[in-house]
Amino acid sequence: MATLLSRIKGTGSALPEKVLTNLDLEKMVDTSDEWITTRTGIKERHIASSDECLSTFCRKAAENALEMAGLKPEDLGLIILGTVTPDQPIPSTACLLQAQLGAVNAAAFDLAAGCTGFLYALSIADKFIRSGAVKHALVMGGEVLSKITDWNDRTTCVLFADGAGAVVLSAEEGERGILSSALHADGTMSDFIAVPGGGSKIPISHEMIDKNLHTVKMRGNETFKIAVRSLLSVCREAINGASLTPQDVKWFVPHQANLRIIRSVAGKLGWPEESICLNIDKTGNTSSASIPIALDELVRSGRVSEEDILLFAAFGAGLTWGSALIRW
Ligand code: ACO
Repeated sequence: MATLLSRIKGTGSALPEKVLTNLDLEKMVDTSDEWITTRTGIKERHIASSDECLSTFCRKAAENALEMAGLKPEDLGLIILGTVTPDQPIPSTACLLQAQLGAVNAAAFDLAAGCTGFLYALSIADKFIRSGAVKHALVMGGEVLSKITDWNDRTTCVLFADGAGAVVLSAEEGERGILSSALHADGTMSDFIAVPGGGSKIPISHEMIDKNLHTVKMRGNETFKIAVRSLLSVCREAINGASLTPQDVKWFVPHQANLRIIRSVAGKLGWPEESICLNIDKTGNTSSASIPIALDELVRSGRVSEEDILLFAAFGAGLTWGSALIRW
């Protein structure tokens, strides 16, 4: 019997127009282009304007992905958006997008898994598709991190950025599509990357805002070491899960958090620089948006061929980490 797989039929992405360079940041905090470039690989990033919000970018990304897939919004049975920066706390931004797109037949929800949000969403949608529950799903990762960034904290504000990416998954019989995926979490390190306030534990108050508890705090150096280890093992897990080897991977599409993390993982798995899909220099760390944005750029540049094996891998707040292996 032929196997039902989830194929990525369309990709899309959107970035804010406004660009913030390392030189701009030099004027805002005690940092330098040299430090940011050598420690992170970031040269510039896109930042939303005050009248833009998450759905601004997700909508464009989704429309582009649907167009590439040749589908209409009403064909969608499911919309999942990985994000930690929704338009508003209630309702989910996925529901706002369902209405904006006119995806009248789709169930819709947001999912919070930090930078791994897109891969959590992808893996869930894959299960819906392979069970036969839905035929077409829209999976997005999007963030407007600039609005929860402490612009006086040089250890975080040089990293984070805004944008959205989307893929349309469709059920198809054959050997092309998502071959395997892996998801993990370890909440014992929940304080490594966190926004402490604004929820039910420390509700919004003048005092909480004065203490800056509504912005992202990160223990970067400790996170770095765990990120490399976890990414390595989760890459191997997806590859083994599909009974392939690292040599079979044509494109490594990692979460764009830090160029040194990405190179370290790729180096240990024997992947040459040309096989790494990189855009961190221009986009910064857009959390759950970074994989679908990088993928969209790769696909639209015409560099992906039929049957290529692609590996996605991400690591982020939670802590969470995950991977997905795709035969294009
Ligand atoms: N400019 C200049 N100096 C700085 C800056 C800056 N922007 N930020 C920190 N420094 C200083 C520090 O104060 C420290 O100075 P000291 O030695 O005098 O104390 C020095 O630079 C080194 O700081 P480290 O934190 O050790 O620097 P590191 O090499 O670890 O780089 C970074 C920091 C880029 C944050 C790195 O640790 C990292 O990328 N970590 C992982 C992040 C990650 O993967 N997060 C998960 C995804 S994010 C998410 O989920 C939203």
